[in-house]
Amino acid sequence: AIPVITIDGPTASGKGTVAHRVADRLGFHYLDSGALYRLTALTALRHGTALSDEHGIAKTAEKLPVRFAGDAMWLANENVTDAIRAEDVGNMASKIAALPTVRHALTGLQLGFRKAPGLVADGRDMGTVIFPQAILKVFLTASVEARAERRYKQLIGKGFAANMEDLLKDLRERDARDSNRAIAPLKPAEGAHILDTSAMTADEAVEQVLKWYAA
Ligand code: CDP
Repeated sequence: AIPVITIDGPTASGKGTVAHRVADRLGFHYLDSGALYRLTALTALRHGTALSDEHGIAKTAEKLPVRFAGDAMWLANENVTDAIRAEDVGNMASKIAALPTVRHALTGLQLGFRKAPGLVADGRDMGTVIFPQAILKVFLTASVEARAERRYKQLIGKGFAANMEDLLKDLRERDARDSNRAIAPLKPAEGAHILDTSAMTADEAVEQVLKWYAA
């Protein structure tokens, strides 16, 4: 069977960086499942689709004209790699992620990333719902303060404006939404290793995951 490593966790926990590096080290494919929710959110925002129009948003998800080129993501002929990282897109993503038909519409696309020689999948429900058969499941977390700081640096680095107070509020709201939703709530998968990275560098977290994988 093609091995899958799942790395789930709350917003801005550093999953993306860690999952990406683990994939590079092992020569595995990488799935940033949150990006699919963000791509759907960006499209819905641009089309002015209301959050109440679940069917319309699910249709958008199903028909995403997405193309992955290395680390870049394209929607039709527009490079949206940076645009999907905006905070309003992230907030919309976390709202549409609570819609069952939207999650369902994105399932096939996610399963398609499981290709030889292996996959590292990053998200909220990779270990619980999408790849329950994964050979290694990690739940990556960090304190809300550490996460706000990481998100702050990430946004500033991309040229977005950011403010710590708003970010902390956003993070707490998003945590609550992700954990309390009825479908695929954020929680450690059965058998998941919990990794608190509050006082860890990304590289230290990568080494820990690789150690678990080798064990
Ligand atoms: O790290 P951050 O929360 O900014 O976002 P992300 O990983 O890019 O995902 C954006 C949003 O999509 C999250 O807030 C989640 O609500 C949702 N999501 C999800 O529900 N399931 C996934 N497998 C991945 C993301």
